[in-house]
Amino acid sequence: MSEPLRVLITGAAGQIGYALAFRIANGELSPGKKVILHLLEITPALGSLEGVVMELTDCAFPTLQGVVATDKVEVAFKDIDVAFLVGSMPRKEGMDRADLLKANGNIFKVQGEALSNYAKPTVKVLVVGNPANTNALIALTTSSKLSAANFTAMTRLDHNRSLAEIASQLKVTADKVKNVIIWGNHSNTQVPDVSNAVVELDGKTVKVTEKIDEAYLKGDFVSKISLRGGAIIKARGLSSAGSAANAAIDHVKTWIHGTKPGEFVSMAIPVPANQPYGIKTGVVFSFPVTVTNGVIKVVEGLPVSEWLQGKLKATEDELQGERSTAFGALGLA
Ligand code: NAI
Repeated sequence: MSEPLRVLITGAAGQIGYALAFRIANGELSPGKKVILHLLEITPALGSLEGVVMELTDCAFPTLQGVVATDKVEVAFKDIDVAFLVGSMPRKEGMDRADLLKANGNIFKVQGEALSNYAKPTVKVLVVGNPANTNALIALTTSSKLSAANFTAMTRLDHNRSLAEIASQLKVTADKVKNVIIWGNHSNTQVPDVSNAVVELDGKTVKVTEKIDEAYLKGDFVSKISLRGGAIIKARGLSSAGSAANAAIDHVKTWIHGTKPGEFVSMAIPVPANQPYGIKTGVVFSFPVTVTNGVIKVVEGLPVSEWLQGKLKATEDELQGERSTAFGALGLA
């Protein structure tokens, strides 16, 4: 029998953690494979975490082989195959990203060290907690035994939002749309780009740009997608949880099982040495990617318009700025 998949969720008693744990326990990442859930929380949230464990038990999932619930990183990170790093301080109305960088940097410094010391060398790390790109960079920087290939940050929610918005404009279901791209940072400077996206309409594959007005795609569409997180906070009083957990599962499933032929998705990854699209190394940047046998590869050579070029530069500059602020505050080189 194959070894169970050991999956860590940090911030497991939080709202995204709560939405994630049940789906992972039910075997969604690798259908049929047993799962041991590792749930990390801060000490004051252990009571609430115990309630989550009780509920997981009561689901009687056939795939759930065990649960490790703890406030100790050395226990939580031991031998894990996959890490969903969710736990952090969520953005509240009025809070800016500099406040977030300060509050969250230390968490990801400690967790980068824990990944290096205790996780399997093949661990797949997805950072969800914001500011996700820079938190992933901090974790990579402090995990001396792991490499860039172990680390990603989540822009799949923005990607899925883009698919859904295009689908709604063209009155089809979201599965008919593919190859949208989220470039850059998971922030308001992200670049939702549909210049390579296609849609299946009446059995034919057509370019989205042939069906939807360019002014909308470069204007309202971009602001709707990049401001969607804020709109949900305003409406719910809390950040997106169900859709964020769903996107996190989509991201890791793609990483484990690969992309379909002719399809790419968006993932934020440490910029590779060949600096695709002129983006400089040293930040975690969202690119269009394909995945084969667990290896993530940037889709290169897509045309870049002047409009896109300017936007890529702005989101890259923001990431470089986040890096300087966070590394300065944490004393990292
Ligand atoms: P939440 O506040 O409901 O839950 C966060 C949990 O993390 C809490 O239970 C807290 O006790 C725990 N926590 C805090 N520090 C921790 C530590 N050092 N170790 C372990 N656990 C710790 O927040 P929610 O709504 O679940 O959001 C989590 C994060 O995900 C936030 O940073 C939010 O901004 C981010 N997010 C990212 C998205 C993306 O697309 N990348 C989308 C939506 C949210």
